[in-house]
Amino acid sequence: MNICIIGFGSIGRTLAKALHEMDDINNIFIIEKKPEKVQDLDEDLTKIRYSENYDDVLEDCRLVVETAAQDAVTKFIPHALEKGVSSLVMSVGAFSDDNLWDKCKILAKQNNCKIYIPSGAICGIDGLGGLGGLDVGEIEEVILMSYKSPKALKGQKYFKQNNIDITNLSRPKVVYDGWARDAVKHFPKNVNVAATVSLAGLGFDRTRVKLIVDPKAQRNTHRLIVKARSGEIECWTRNLPFPENPRTSYLAALSLISAVKRIIGSAWVGI
Ligand SMILES: NC(=O)c1ccc[n+]([C@@H]2O[C@H](COP(=O)([O-])OP(=O)(O)OC[C@H]3O[C@@H](n4cnc5c(N)ncnc54)[C@H](O)[C@@H]3O)[C@@H](O)[C@H]2O)c1
Repeated sequence: MNICIIGFGSIGRTLAKALHEMDDINNIFIIEKKPEKVQDLDEDLTKIRYSENYDDVLEDCRLVVETAAQDAVTKFIPHALEKGVSSLVMSVGAFSDDNLWDKCKILAKQNNCKIYIPSGAICGIDGLGGLGGLDVGEIEEVILMSYKSPKALKGQKYFKQNNIDITNLSRPKVVYDGWARDAVKHFPKNVNVAATVSLAGLGFDRTRVKLIVDPKAQRNTHRLIVKARSGEIECWTRNLPFPENPRTSYLAALSLISAVKRIIGSAWVGI
């Protein structure tokens, strides 16, 4: 089978190399706005090839995997779903646009395919989704607390606009406390986890997000708290950065590889 990857950066490249080792995979087509990124590959990675023609790729493709940026979701994913090709999306923040999310769900339904969102850089999405199974108000509250180093949040406009100084901190400081809907607007480059939690649980308008700058943070840490009538979930994820890109957590790439294996494989544990 053939798979298309949009975006050949840290995550896309790691996925492509993992797919290359799988017997079931014949071709891995790469759509990338900087084609030179695909040219420095080892010669033995023969299944991986750059493609200029997305329409041709979609003709004979089992799955599209987006690992690029939010604008690439808008540009490429609806078209894949229109052609009946299931799509796995990493830049989940794009779906804070309700119109895009609704459009993609309708297209998937009309064309008998699916949109997949991996758990990415956070654990606990399985339990959160499970509690929401009956959709009858079981979940009472969802809080996501993300702890980042000053370096990981450097240069955010939100801090300037709100006179928040994150330099020379001696202890952790809460720099944002509000709904996910606003968090994704204020911190567009740090929104994927908040978006995934929102889509899995109470939505963008009822998911509370706290962002904490921790001067001692070595890892991107997320604490997910879910309060429900049937019990509570509290889940910590302490991520090491991706070796080639400190802004991305390594778990995000690994969770994506695992998601693709489940989608194309014959068994699905933890659905
Ligand atoms: N869901 C999660 O938990 C999670 C975690 C980490 C990263 N992410 C997201 O995954 C995406 C990829 O992350 P990364 O660390 O690999 O990024 P990266 O910057 O290393 O790579 C992105 C690649 O996509 C290419 N690209 C960007 N826009 C494009 C477009 N419109 N068309 C074609 N190619 C395009 C870039 O040239 C680059 O090569 C980002 O949007 C990131 O925010 C999600």
